[in-house]
Amino acid sequence: MINTIKKDLIIEGKTKKIYSTKNPHEIIIHYKDNLTSLHGLKNKLFQDKGILNNEITTIIFKHLHYNGIKNHFIRKENNREQLCYKLNMIPLEFVTRNIVSGSMSKRLGITEGKLISNGIFEIFYKSDKLKDPLINDHHAVFLEIISYEELNFIYSVMKNINNILKKYFINKNIILVDFKIEFGKNKKNEIYLSDEISPDTCRFWDKNTKKKLDKDIFRIESEKNIDIINTYMEILKRLHEN
Ligand code: TMP
Repeated sequence: MINTIKKDLIIEGKTKKIYSTKNPHEIIIHYKDNLTSLHGLKNKLFQDKGILNNEITTIIFKHLHYNGIKNHFIRKENNREQLCYKLNMIPLEFVTRNIVSGSMSKRLGITEGKLISNGIFEIFYKSDKLKDPLINDHHAVFLEIISYEELNFIYSVMKNINNILKKYFINKNIILVDFKIEFGKNKKNEIYLSDEISPDTCRFWDKNTKKKLDKDIFRIESEKNIDIINTYMEILKRLHEN
């Protein structure tokens, strides 16, 4: 489909490109095929991964909107692009954990798979130079990125999102192990969920077999058969099922 409203490239990230549109309050987000880890050190192309993540994020953001979560998504433009509200992005990554895995497992020496009954929230400071360090509320406020009131608001939204998505995914036989989200502010200083929610930014395990159905199969070096496309297609297939 030809995109008629896309104007100039504003910024190109590791996995997405952002374009301006004729409307100064709206942007086009273009999903690339790159998959990266280790802060971009590992970077590989998987043909059509961007198409899958665009569709998966679209389904999830629509579901969140339907459940009252304010987010930047306006509409899917074509197979790789979405029209979204332009926000002033908060340079923090907010991680919600339901099961110990990844960096929490390594940092605290806890075996992967331990249940976290009430969920744990973490904040990472988005800085390529510093390799996105884990910080706490006080660091974020000291850095003048955010206020305590805004953090409390975001934590309440994260709790709601976690409850909505855990329920949504378990109905698809998927365990939502953990996920990373980002927020931005509009002109009225209202905080909206932004960025993407996809197998690039979440850990998904099959409910019955506990098989990993996300980017972890790319992160884990010893994994022999990296089948990103089939794995992401499996997630999309389950999201399409009722
Ligand atoms: P972690 O265990 O590596 O800290 O990751 C926690 C969650 O956040 C996991 O679902 C993957 C996601 N994540 C991102 O989306 N981007 C990142 O840069 C990192 C480090 C994690």
